[in-house]
Amino acid sequence: MKHNEHIIPGEQHWEKENMEEGFVLWFTGLSGSGKTAVAERVAVILEREYGQLVERLDGDIVRQYLTYDLGFSKEDRDKNIERVSYVARLLSRNGVCVLAAFISPYAERRNKIRDMVTNFIEVYVKCPVEVCEGRDVKGLYKKARDGIIENFTGISDPYQEPEEPELVLETDRETIEESVDKVISYLENKGYV
Ligand code: ADX
Repeated sequence: MKHNEHIIPGEQHWEKENMEEGFVLWFTGLSGSGKTAVAERVAVILEREYGQLVERLDGDIVRQYLTYDLGFSKEDRDKNIERVSYVARLLSRNGVCVLAAFISPYAERRNKIRDMVTNFIEVYVKCPVEVCEGRDVKGLYKKARDGIIENFTGISDPYQEPEEPELVLETDRETIEESVDKVISYLENKGYV
């Protein structure tokens, strides 16, 4: 059991029976790096082929329903990740496989997740900013270059690379299927599925 019992003051604990451990696959990387694309496919495989309980937490959706009050300053991004980590904590300790896809650009904040949740797996979705900008699926890089959006990660805001991620996916060099396979193989090898 790798969740830390006393990390949240005031939280009550009880011995859970028939406890199945979940895990948190935490996809971090630039906007457009492929976090969501990989997480979506991994989720389907875990559900259909491995019969797992799966939930996805995704920046673009979570920011609509849970953290809609937050922007993109360092303070707000840290709050965003802090709140989502709490949700990931509740799910992962109840046997759910959580697939979280957030830019989560600050290393210190990411490292805190490790201590909060059950079985944290940091997945660095690595892709050069030029490639992400070239894809510009949502047209946000152009807006950032034109100064319409401020504090845009990789353009006018920092991204701190993970130092020791459990997995690195190089989405400019491998296909989505290859990246997905890497994740599934990792989970199998470590006995998570
Ligand atoms: S995080 O930094 O707090 O982890 P999160 O993953 O939730 O970010 O949200 C990132 C998404 O918000 C991007 O994929 C993009 O669609 C959108 N977005 C809007 N403004 C910004 C910005 N200034 N920097 C990065 N992403 C932005």
